[in-house]
Amino acid sequence: MRELDMACESFRTLLEEQMRRIAGMEQEKVDFSAKETVTIGLIDGDGIGPVIMEQAGRVLRQLLSEEIAAGTIALRPIQGLCIENRMALGVSIPAPVLEQIRACDVLLKGPTTTPMGGKMESANVTLRRELDLYANVRPVSIPEEGIDWVFYRENTEGEYVLGSRGVALPGMAVDFKVTTDLGTRRIARTAFDYARRNGKSRVSIVTKANIMKKTDGKFTEICHQVAQDYPEITVDDWYIDIMAANLVNPGLRNQFQVFLLPNLYGDILTDEAAQLQGGVGTAGSANVGDRFAMFEAIHGSAPRMIQEGLGEFANPSSILRAEAMLLRHIGRMSAAQRLESALARCPVRVTGGRDGATCRAYADALMEIL
Ligand code: IPM
Ligand code: MG
Repeated sequence: MRELDMACESFRTLLEEQMRRIAGMEQEKVDFSAKETVTIGLIDGDGIGPVIMEQAGRVLRQLLSEEIAAGTIALRPIQGLCIENRMALGVSIPAPVLEQIRACDVLLKGPTTTPMGGKMESANVTLRRELDLYANVRPVSIPEEGIDWVFYRENTEGEYVLGSRGVALPGMAVDFKVTTDLGTRRIARTAFDYARRNGKSRVSIVTKANIMKKTDGKFTEICHQVAQDYPEITVDDWYIDIMAANLVNPGLRNQFQVFLLPNLYGDILTDEAAQLQGGVGTAGSANVGDRFAMFEAIHGSAPRMIQEGLGEFANPSSILRAEAMLLRHIGRMSAAQRLESALARCPVRVTGGRDGATCRAYADALMEIL
């Protein structure tokens, strides 16, 4: 069958590409304290993206006004990463936009719409791959329950890396999942280093290694290997299904601290965790690599809110939490702390509907506190 031959041929190409990716994986980490100017790219995205990013930009300019004036921080708006432009050009990230992105050190990014089906890859996935943002860090806290979780989600592999490159044969479709030694080791190191630096005593690995034996099996095995360098930290491993149940088990959930997971399980479990914290509109997300880092809201572009005319009621707290993570990442600790404490104290309630405050009203109140 011609289709079968073509599929086998393209499988070979995919494997060769992945081997080249592995070869380019190890890089030096950038040191922000050694940089004269740190350039922060601001990307609006689409849907509710421009609404929340407008407020995030205002807050950032207020927080960093002195450094912006002194030239040690530069804010650079980046246009053109919206669904209209991407669809018109038929590409996930237009080349000139990617070039502007690469000229920045870190990015604050509004959500970008991912078209369902078709061939176009999610802009997030493209960015994570092109900038090799391998660690997706998502903190969730519920102080009244003593919950202080941080999720370390592998961000460049798993089902995502070839998600737009599956094959369809007559009567069936096949997608691919990729797990590499180096890719697993670097996310595991990042998670354990975080645990050590922050006095966490437990890291929980989450996979479905009973079913995905090769890929998740490797992930679990390598995470346990890395764990041997952190003898003070307790390590356990779980399957994703029971962990999804654990998170809604009030008697158990506050015992978890740091989660270490492959890409897709991390995607799913972090939405669940964010919902427990108060909604996906409340959680920030860092995408960190050795050279670049991108900070964003955990949620999508909410096209339905725009269609229903509710855009101005979008909740900016998720992108603002991401903004605090960005400030921490570039070593601006006091600005990060001021923002975090203002976020914790801001009394304005945004619900995403007309019964709540607008995005702007929330930012106004926050800036008063700052
Ligand atoms: C996320 C989002 C993305 C993902 C989408 C937009 C591609 O859900 O950041 O969690 O699946 O990773
Ligand atoms: Mg998600």
